[in-house]
Amino acid sequence: MNEPTVDVYLKPQQLTEALRDDVRIGLTSIPKWLPPKWFYDAHGSELFERITTLPEYYPTRTERELLQRFSGEIASLARPEVLVELGSGSSEKTRLLLDAALAEGTLHTYVPQDVSISALEDATQQIATEFPALTVHGVVSDFTESLHHLPGGGCRTIVFLGGTLGNMVPAERAEFLSGIANVLESGESLVLGVGLVTDTDTLVAAYDDRAGVTAEFDKNVLRVLNRELQADFVLDDFRHVAVWDPANEWIEMRLRATRDVEVDIRGLGMSVSFDAEEFVRTEISAKFTVDGIGSELVDAGFSVEKSWVDPDNRFALLCATAM
Ligand code: SAH
Ligand code: TRP
Repeated sequence: MNEPTVDVYLKPQQLTEALRDDVRIGLTSIPKWLPPKWFYDAHGSELFERITTLPEYYPTRTERELLQRFSGEIASLARPEVLVELGSGSSEKTRLLLDAALAEGTLHTYVPQDVSISALEDATQQIATEFPALTVHGVVSDFTESLHHLPGGGCRTIVFLGGTLGNMVPAERAEFLSGIANVLESGESLVLGVGLVTDTDTLVAAYDDRAGVTAEFDKNVLRVLNRELQADFVLDDFRHVAVWDPANEWIEMRLRATRDVEVDIRGLGMSVSFDAEEFVRTEISAKFTVDGIGSELVDAGFSVEKSWVDPDNRFALLCATAM
């Protein structure tokens, strides 16, 4: 086995600076909001892994089923030599694509990338052990800022799974997709997994499970603020809510104050007050139609090669090439 390498572009001090800026801006906005990447400290990444096994959270198992059926076809379309995965987390489903691309005979390098150092370090170790034939080169960075850091060294396929694209608002999404199209050479590919618009009950349950794991995950951002910025959020003062916004076609995750709350954020020298029922938006998860995401890809400079949808029409994989 080749020892895996990990490049860390986010030093703890930069992370704290970025968190300070985000919290200062987000919690003084109306309505209040926080960017989703702050969920994912070590505890948050663990909670997300638990979400992926919940009965209500169909996206992970549906995407896994699609990858089980179609990884061979994807590998023979994209013929990756270097497989770069953005927001790779535990890389659990990616093993199916790695197997298929190894069988295709093209793949030599896997580059997982994530903002969560703990998740990335665990995943690189495990993948390097399980796939001794691969060079594993992890990158810790923010995927909205770091496409130019991603190593090349062969024909690349960028993989972006889990519906994470839906966590960006449309303008961010457009910029992100054209950024990817720009770093790719003509003929290199993007493999994208996105959630589709489906019935509201199914959608809402996926983001508000009965066991309360998603609520824990949502509130973890408050724990991060308490620890990193010496804030004094009382987690029980907030309730997790998931609402489907039919106009924007996204699920919105909110933490809603259960009473009037005054929070001291000592590390920022500021305090923030919440009226009872006021919320902070912590995440959106946009859902798509196959045609809709197809035209977003074309607008970004891709040509869509093929798409695959599960029998219940809840999740899609798309393979697109840069022009
Ligand atoms: N791809 C995995 C994980 C999806 S959860 C799956 O399909 O199961 C979203 C992942 O994106 C998490 O691992 C999180 O740490 C990462 N992430 C979120 N925002 C990010 C950002 N701005 N830059 C890099 N990674 C990010
Ligand atoms: N990328 C995942 C999704 O949009 C992230 C996620 C799953 C999430 N469940 C969540 C984010 C609950 C916030 C709260 O499906």
